[in-house]
Amino acid sequence: MKLDGKVAVVTGGAKGIGMEICKQLAQEGAKVIACDMGEMTYEMKNVDYYKLNVADAEGCKTFYDEAVEKYGKIDILVNNAGITRDSMTRKMTDDQWNLVLDVNLKGVFNLVRYIGPQMETIGGGSIINISSVVGIFGNIGQANYSATKAGMIGLTKTWAKEFARKGVPVRVNAIAPGYTMTDILKTVPQDLLDKFASLTMLKRLGQPEEIAKVVLFLAGSDSSYITGQTLQVDGGMRL
Ligand SMILES: NC(=O)c1ccc[n+]([C@@H]2O[C@H](COP(=O)([O-])OP(=O)(O)OC[C@H]3O[C@@H](n4cnc5c(N)ncnc54)[C@H](O)[C@@H]3O)[C@@H](O)[C@H]2O)c1
Repeated sequence: MKLDGKVAVVTGGAKGIGMEICKQLAQEGAKVIACDMGEMTYEMKNVDYYKLNVADAEGCKTFYDEAVEKYGKIDILVNNAGITRDSMTRKMTDDQWNLVLDVNLKGVFNLVRYIGPQMETIGGGSIINISSVVGIFGNIGQANYSATKAGMIGLTKTWAKEFARKGVPVRVNAIAPGYTMTDILKTVPQDLLDKFASLTMLKRLGQPEEIAKVVLFLAGSDSSYITGQTLQVDGGMRL
């Protein structure tokens, strides 16, 4: 199997896109740690659960220390945990702004600051940041969310440079999913979802499995010459 012997950390791995990512990585032979502040919604061989709020900097350091102690190394990191707190900018509260930035952006930094350098020391690794088409196109009512998702693309390019500067193949890429059928869309009215589907070339929304397949590709050696990139997985969406 393609990921035999690899250790993967997936944030937000308890459900939705993160769950599919954990399942596909484990099916390819990786030992997977699903980090999530919520409870697991499934059980699978080779997927372990670790309760973690990625916005908690100290908690992330503790997790990192414990994971390296228990599993020996981390080869793959998927920064997937993310939240929305939508509001028009004029009505957006400090709490809405701060929470989304703390989870979606600071939460990524909280782990990469340890795991990126660790990948340099073990001779390589793959970091995959789950951004969004909203980080590329922007979206009404999502100033906080779009800022974080665009920020993840900047981090992706920065870390692709920073962690490979000594010639060690630590690759860092982002995926920008289009609208994908998970709980995060629960609050979006059906007529808007229909509109989003109609904006794609394929005239439908995405499935979590379709995002996970691209994570699998970026995690393993099939993508060994790809770094610093953002792949749009959105059915050909135009906003
Ligand atoms: N579904 C979509 O349409 C879509 C589109 C583009 C990008 N994305 C991104 O994909 C990622 C996954 O989204 P999803 O649709 O599966 O959402 P989801 O709400 O179904 O799942 C998100 C998971 O992240 C966990 N989580 C939230 N805050 C956390 C925290 N502070 N610490 C640890 N875990 C936390 C949740 O408990 C949940 O298990 C997110 O980053 C989201 O922004 C989703």
